[in-house]
Amino acid sequence: MTPSLHDHLDEIRRQFPALARQAGDYPAAFFDGPAGTQVPQRVIDAVSAYYIQHNANHGGLFPTSRESDDMLAAAHQAAADFVGSDDPGTVAFGANMTTLTLSLSRALARTWGPGDEVIVSRLDHDANFTPWVLAAADAGATVRHIDINPDDCTLDLDDFKSQLSDRTRLVAVGCASNAVGSVNPVKDICRLAHEVGALTFLDAVHFAPHSLIDVEDFGCDFLACSAYKFFGPHIGLLWGRRSLLEELPAFKLRPASNALPDKWMTGTQNHECIAGTLAAIDYLADLGRTVAGDDSLERRPALERAYQAIVDYEQQLIWHLIDGLRPLDTFRLWGIDDPLRRAERLPTISITHSRRTPTEIAEELGRRGLFVWHGNYYALPLTERLGLEPDGMIRVGIVHYNTLEEVDRLLAALRDLS
Ligand SMILES: Cc1ncc(COP(=O)(O)O)c(C=O)c1O
Repeated sequence: MTPSLHDHLDEIRRQFPALARQAGDYPAAFFDGPAGTQVPQRVIDAVSAYYIQHNANHGGLFPTSRESDDMLAAAHQAAADFVGSDDPGTVAFGANMTTLTLSLSRALARTWGPGDEVIVSRLDHDANFTPWVLAAADAGATVRHIDINPDDCTLDLDDFKSQLSDRTRLVAVGCASNAVGSVNPVKDICRLAHEVGALTFLDAVHFAPHSLIDVEDFGCDFLACSAYKFFGPHIGLLWGRRSLLEELPAFKLRPASNALPDKWMTGTQNHECIAGTLAAIDYLADLGRTVAGDDSLERRPALERAYQAIVDYEQQLIWHLIDGLRPLDTFRLWGIDDPLRRAERLPTISITHSRRTPTEIAEELGRRGLFVWHGNYYALPLTERLGLEPDGMIRVGIVHYNTLEEVDRLLAALRDLS
């Protein structure tokens, strides 16, 4: 086990009050991270401190409002550090990734017309699929679909290349699959899209708790994620290139400022959750400082160190799980199972059983305090493509607060059910 994060695991877990929960006779094991992670105490404290000390609308000339303005500015800066941008004005907060994507898709569709094409993928969550299908339909544009390689549940890049053309206006793909954990080669995808003059939108919701987002390195034009998947509250974030956010015709009210990021943050914001998001990002940065043993690290390099440790630790756990599943013939793992391809998968797996339904398995695991998900988790384009509807699969998601002992408990339960 990697010394860095594992050495601090008790200290990390103690920060998450929910992890102390019992489920009947068992300690709760939260393998439901892909549907939403638990939060550290400092996030809970930040939300309640906002209500107790600073609760006000922004832009007023009195202390609580000025404090709210300061908190918002600090949160935008933290969010920019989180996605790898040096421009805090380019990150908008909003209800969640789905709602932010729906509103960006409305704005982009105003620039499309018949003959234009939009490319989406069958590996994606529906939130990075249907908003573009609906927007294209309104604009009279055509939607193309990138297929998957069903054997390992990865994107079919040859298919992608064959669909790109000078008619392509947007390529929308995920950084990683929330169902099977495959990581997409987003740098290559963005480069190829730009070569034909298309814009790129990345869904980083599933990627964000596991790996460092770097919008400049990815070379994307837009990227969205959700704080509740990376140890924060229920709120979404949208980053875009400044020039595009400035030029695009956003759907907004007349008095609302055209300045960034306000242009893209419609209505009164969820200040308490924005304060909680700031605390979640600082939790991750402090994790990086702890594993690096260096309190003086700035936020971005601290986040880099945190994610190096997270990747290393989570990889140990997920391959322990995958290796433990191999002898269980009745279970099928969907996605990459070749240990030589570690870098291509996140610690999220989906499995099916040859006789038992996902509901039956998830119910039994739930009884044993093992919280897993079942069904399609909105990765409907994928479960349809794999012919797994209506039952779907069983999803086990590992994050950095999970333990090897929890994985062993899960394997023992799966053995009993095999
Ligand atoms: C990969 C992925 N994209 C998008 C979403 C939607 O995010 P939100 O709930 O913030 O709208 C989810 C939620 O599960 C997801 O896993």
